Amino acid sequence: MFEQSKKGERALLVHLKLHDHQQETSIDDEFRELALSAGAKVMGTISTKYDNPDPKYLIRKGKAQEVHDYVKEHEIEVVLIDHKISPIQGRNLEKLLGCKVLDRTDLILDIFAQRARTFEGKLQVELARLEHLSTKLVRGWTHLERQKGGIGLRGGPGETQLEVDKRLIRERIKHIRLQLKKVRQQRALSRRARHKAQIPTVSLVGYTNTGKSTLFNTITGDSIYAADKLFATLDPTFRSVCLPYIGKVILADTVGFIRDLPHSLIDAFQATLDETKDADLLLHIIDCHDELWQDRKRQVESVLASIGALNVPILEVYNKIDLVDDLQEGIERNEDGIVSLVRISAIKGRGIDILLSSVAERLSNKLISGKLKLTAKQARERALLYDVGVVDKEEIDADGNWILEIKIQQKDWCKLCNQCSGLEDSFLKQ
Ligand code: GTP
Repeated sequence: MFEQSKKGERALLVHLKLHDHQQETSIDDEFRELALSAGAKVMGTISTKYDNPDPKYLIRKGKAQEVHDYVKEHEIEVVLIDHKISPIQGRNLEKLLGCKVLDRTDLILDIFAQRARTFEGKLQVELARLEHLSTKLVRGWTHLERQKGGIGLRGGPGETQLEVDKRLIRERIKHIRLQLKKVRQQRALSRRARHKAQIPTVSLVGYTNTGKSTLFNTITGDSIYAADKLFATLDPTFRSVCLPYIGKVILADTVGFIRDLPHSLIDAFQATLDETKDADLLLHIIDCHDELWQDRKRQVESVLASIGALNVPILEVYNKIDLVDDLQEGIERNEDGIVSLVRISAIKGRGIDILLSSVAERLSNKLISGKLKLTAKQARERALLYDVGVVDKEEIDADGNWILEIKIQQKDWCKLCNQCSGLEDSFLKQ
């Protein structure tokens, strides 16, 4: 149903030049990388100015003819345009060029579809693609002959093909939304369990290809830090790791960000991105070898702002220092003395210890507050809590248990839990 670039398909890239000339080459390179990631065989690139876009073809008529001639001469199967094109423009271009035309959104959705691994990820991508497809179903996009209905096409006689297509898409979207709702309820349950146990979550965010998954694997693949039992049923992009002074922490690998991330994808990945919003700390992975790192850092920050995650504390992680001369692993602190930046090489395992102790340091001051229920057998625990001065209020419930309202720093809580087994289970649901 979806139009996509097949493996090894002969592709021509059409690049629309914006005004910032300094960055043209790298942005052009990024589009080429996207095309290659989708599996296309890039045969060439044609660049054109984005001034006065043509309403019919987006690119000017003369340019469209040049693209047409190139397509014929090099037997191009798909033309990839590094810009959003309207459904009508896509249709007109396909008619003129006699081959498939995909825009940037199509391409990104295609790559996400190839990469989706989990059941939820696959549903999310299918939803995004269907929503994108439904915007393309306009009169003239598909054939409009009358058809009689039939098995699986419950529309009565007289329903047009376009109406059938739209209805089938609507039904499928409804079905996927229901399935996603169930998966998300399960995810919300896991999140509540983590909150109740006061386990902090650290989310890896960053532009695509900066090394998030490599870092995730480097950290969790090490048996010293990995203790993959408690949340064995979580989505595979979550792992429980153990940090010094902090104890258990959930590390989450999130979806990679990219310039002009299609809105349908942001919507479809809302639940995954919610994990980002709810995290206690974000590790923003930046590829310091990439000449466009500053621009890409801003792109990520703007996605974070759009999902309401800008209030979550951020620790910047400059990765791939092995590719930059004279750059060593290390940290930088801001004017308040807080670690704000760590330099590492995830692939070489350089700076990982520094990163983990920086994460521990950033989390250790996190304030935990809530109600604890202690039984009569936990008098020692109660005494210790009073000793460290973290009890705000105390009551006794009908069964004779102590209900203590406490406020305590993460690192002190972890210390107490190490002294008193079972204490971490005494938090009451909030
Ligand atoms: P997305 O899944 O697209 O979001 O990418 P990602 O951010 O998870 O990046 P990934 O871990 O897949 O790494 C991208 C590429 O960078 C891979 O080829 C890695 O081998 C490489 N890479 C990651 N870390 C380093 C590093 O420290 N040094 C070098 N030289 N390469 C690295």
